Amino acid sequence: MIQLVFASANENKIKEIQSILPQQIQLLGLKDVGIHEEILETTGTLEGNARQKADYVFEKTGLNCFSDDTGLEIQALHNAPGVDSAIYAGLPRSSQRNIEKVLLEMHGELERTAQFRTVICYKTHRGAFYFEGMCTGSIGREIRGEDGFGYDGIFYPAGYSRTFAEMNLKDKKMLSHRSKAFHQFVEYLQTNQ
Ligand code: IMP
Repeated sequence: MIQLVFASANENKIKEIQSILPQQIQLLGLKDVGIHEEILETTGTLEGNARQKADYVFEKTGLNCFSDDTGLEIQALHNAPGVDSAIYAGLPRSSQRNIEKVLLEMHGELERTAQFRTVICYKTHRGAFYFEGMCTGSIGREIRGEDGFGYDGIFYPAGYSRTFAEMNLKDKKMLSHRSKAFHQFVEYLQTNQ
């Protein structure tokens, strides 16, 4: 059995990722390794923040670990909200206010291309390795759909006339940035353990 730390305190996320990893890998969450404090994410990039979290956990535990960071990058907004996606409209975190801010900034804008991007950083004694997944699409003009979270209600994946929030979880998973990034990571683990 190989143990890997996932730099997340979110039990649902940990379970979801455990279910897609090879069976011989046992995932540990932050709580399992005694990390209860919030880890800083201050680098200003998805890669940097993923690295910052993975470095922190590796230094504290000495165990192989990985972290992920995701952002919505809107071309007309010079790739904002990007690394600030979770808190674009400030604290406390609110998806509703984040979406409203994006819709306001995009008002009247014709160029609506955007992408979700997930970066995973895997840190071991051999160094840091990165994996990326992207889902390209466009930003709608109003909120559509009830499901999902974050910016799902205003994001149309390329080639679809439904937002992520109008799709069932299975369809969204097939297209999603996060699934693609983790797929790459799993492939790497299967050939490099
Ligand atoms: P995290 O790095 O996975 O915590 O994602 C940061 C922020 O990006 C979240 O708080 C959401 O606002 C947004 N986000 C990430 N993934 C998605 C998604 O699949 N749909 C909509 N919003 C997302």
